[in-house]
Amino acid sequence: NNPIPVIAIDGPTASGKGTVASRVAERLSFHLLDSGALYRLTALQALRRGVELRDEHAIAKLAEHLPARFVGGDVFLNNENVTAAIRAEEVGNIASKIAALPTVRHALFALQLGFREAPGLVADGRDMGTVIFPGAKLKVFLTASVKARAERRYKQLIDKGISANMDDLLADLQERDERDTKRAIAPLAPAADAHLLDTSDMTAAEAVEQVLSWYAHA
Ligand code: CDP
Ligand code: CDP
Repeated sequence: NNPIPVIAIDGPTASGKGTVASRVAERLSFHLLDSGALYRLTALQALRRGVELRDEHAIAKLAEHLPARFVGGDVFLNNENVTAAIRAEEVGNIASKIAALPTVRHALFALQLGFREAPGLVADGRDMGTVIFPGAKLKVFLTASVKARAERRYKQLIDKGISANMDDLLADLQERDERDTKRAIAPLAPAADAHLLDTSDMTAAEAVEQVLSWYAHA
């Protein structure tokens, strides 16, 4: 019964959640929660401090005391801008491993609820509509074929001047899909009341218009 509206955008990696969520937030002048960034920040901390992924207690501690700040489109750990660092594929893979730990999800729960501020919030991730904001005014589940998603990631990397191998990308993506959908806690799945949007043959702009139109009628 929180009156501040939430638009939940969930889906697998490279389905376009981040792009669509940030554009929708901009159009509505809503706040934005990139929940994946919180798992990535925790992963980056673990990587840098050499914390073993088996050490669930230590990883959860990192999540609990995450010195994260979001300024404009940038992400900071304390005063360090880690916007680019958290996007590394290695960090995404570790993020997906620690995201299966119940203690980590628990530690990040309240932090995520805190992003719900007037006039509204667009939240993107895996469990925005199912676990974090089950009362969201609009829930969207974005999908796209594995091939389309791997091609998007490939293009993003090449555009950033990072060399990439399509076969490795495909393998990583499928491994991460598998881990995210099969985990016991908050698995990636559309909420029962989510609108499904397959963007395999859509531009990001078209996906944004569809979401805005659903919201206008929600
Ligand atoms: O957040 P998520 O991992 O789901 O995806 P993203 O980081 O937003 O990356 C999606 C990439 O695919 C971006 O480079 C978009 O420009 C592009 N794209 C899209 O988001 N949606 C489409 N319908 C087509 C392309
Ligand atoms: O951009 P991409 O979709 O590849 O990943 P992300 O949204 O930045 O999330 C990184 C990882 O964090 C995912 O593979 C998930 O395992 C995890 N995650 C999650 O479990 N729950 C969320 N709400 C968001 C991310």
